Amino acid sequence: MTDLTNIKDHVILVAGAASGIGYEIAKHLLSVGAIVVTTDKNSDGLTELKNSVNSEKLHVRIVDFLDDNEIEALIQFIEDEVGQLKGVINCVGILGQRGILSEEIDLDNFDLVYRVNLRSALVLSIAAIKVMKPRKYGRILQLASISGKEGNPGLVAYSVTKAGIIAMVKSQGKEYAESGITINALAPALIDTPMVASFTEEQRNFLKAKIPMNRIGDPIEVATLAAWIVSPACSFTTGFAFDLTGGRATY
Ligand SMILES: NC(=O)c1ccc[n+]([C@@H]2O[C@H](COP(=O)([O-])OP(=O)(O)OC[C@H]3O[C@@H](n4cnc5c(N)ncnc54)[C@H](O)[C@@H]3O)[C@@H](O)[C@H]2O)c1
Repeated sequence: MTDLTNIKDHVILVAGAASGIGYEIAKHLLSVGAIVVTTDKNSDGLTELKNSVNSEKLHVRIVDFLDDNEIEALIQFIEDEVGQLKGVINCVGILGQRGILSEEIDLDNFDLVYRVNLRSALVLSIAAIKVMKPRKYGRILQLASISGKEGNPGLVAYSVTKAGIIAMVKSQGKEYAESGITINALAPALIDTPMVASFTEEQRNFLKAKIPMNRIGDPIEVATLAAWIVSPACSFTTGFAFDLTGGRATY
């Protein structure tokens, strides 16, 4: 019987792979035999990944997601130089200003968070859909957050963009429902990465206390779910925000 979770030799792009969740996802996908194209603006993290896995199936491309043209060129590079793109997992994200009230928001910082977290995700999805659509198969997974479902105080810009990701995949999931491409989001609570390490202890404890399992998630718990979502097995779910919150969000 065919194992629909098998993604051996599937070409999968992991964006934001120099650190945290994306790094762990890239490593996990390689361990199950996928051909993984990693990208990030941080070359050090990608070099470290390349040295640690030492795999011919790993490709590295430095891209700044603030540049639409660079994102489009990345998809073209994959198609021309690596192979037909089957999956995209987008982990690019920044927190922006944190721990401040709305009245203290710097609007330039708000715009930056919007461009890195939401606009680039849209640009990436459009470029991927264009190459996937004629082949009638594709898997797109965007990293949203529990903050996009519930909002987090002191994190308005971040929460707004993550809510935008959830709304975007709901809309695109319906738009492309008959195309063979599934478009989903993942909405984690606290996961143990450098992004979370940048919180103050007080902020971390506040968010951890909301998790019924009373612990922070491990990046491998994100990676194994992500690998399933971008496999052929995840064929009847689109426009969905998968939960990964240790029981915090049961919807
Ligand atoms: N860690 C958590 O608790 C958590 C929870 C919910 C959602 N998320 C989301 O998961 C994703 C990954 O988060 P993480 O915790 O691994 O964070 P991280 O900071 O470790 O990784 C984010 C990556 O995005 C890259 N990046 C930032 N701006 C970029 C740009 N302009 N161009 C290219 N790359 C850029 C960074 O260099 C970094 O490697 C993010 O979208 C984040 O919002 C994380």
